[in-house]
Amino acid sequence: MAQREILLADSPALRQKAKKIRIIDAGVQRLIDDMIETMDQAHGVGLAAPQVGESVRVLVIRIPESEPIALINPQVVKRSGERILEEGCLSIPGWRGEVKRSVTVLVKALNRDGREIRVKATADLLAQALEHEIDHLDGVLYIDRLTAPDRMWKLLPHEEEGEEGEEGLVGAGSHSVEI
Ligand code: CO
Repeated sequence: MAQREILLADSPALRQKAKKIRIIDAGVQRLIDDMIETMDQAHGVGLAAPQVGESVRVLVIRIPESEPIALINPQVVKRSGERILEEGCLSIPGWRGEVKRSVTVLVKALNRDGREIRVKATADLLAQALEHEIDHLDGVLYIDRLTAPDRMWKLLPHEEEGEEGEEGLVGAGSHSVEI
C-alpha cells in the first residue's frame, strides 16, 4: 500500500466526471488500498479516486469505529428528505461549510470483489459521506452546494487538530470531519 497525495480543490482533476470502472483488476484493488491508507493518514471519513488524481468511479468511506467500505461505480438509487449539515473535505483542508443533504440515501455499487451491493443510510455520517463522495465522481464539491455563498468558514488552528479521545483519534467533532 502507498499513501497518495490528496489534490486540492483548485486542481482541474477534481472538476472532471470520472469514468466507470470496466474491469476490477489488481490495479483497482491497489488503488482502493492506497485510498484507504491515504484517507486514514489524513484522518478523513471518505475519499474519492479523483482526489488522488485517478479519474475513475471509486470511493472509500470509513465511519469512525467501523471497517472501511469501498464502492465501485456507485449510483444513488433513491434519496429522500432534506437536512442542513456542516461539511468539510480533504481537498479543502481547514474549512467547513453549510450544505443541504438528503436524510436517507440508497446506493447501489460493486464491492472490491465485483459483487453488487446496496448501502442504505439514514440521517447519519454515512448518508452524508455517500452523497459527498459520489459528488466527487461527478466533479462536484461541497462548495457548490452551500446553503448560501457566505456559509463557509475557516477553522481556527486549534480546531484543525484532531482530538485524541479515549476511543482513539476522532475529528474535532462529528459535524466537522473532512470527507
Ligand atoms: Co471531499
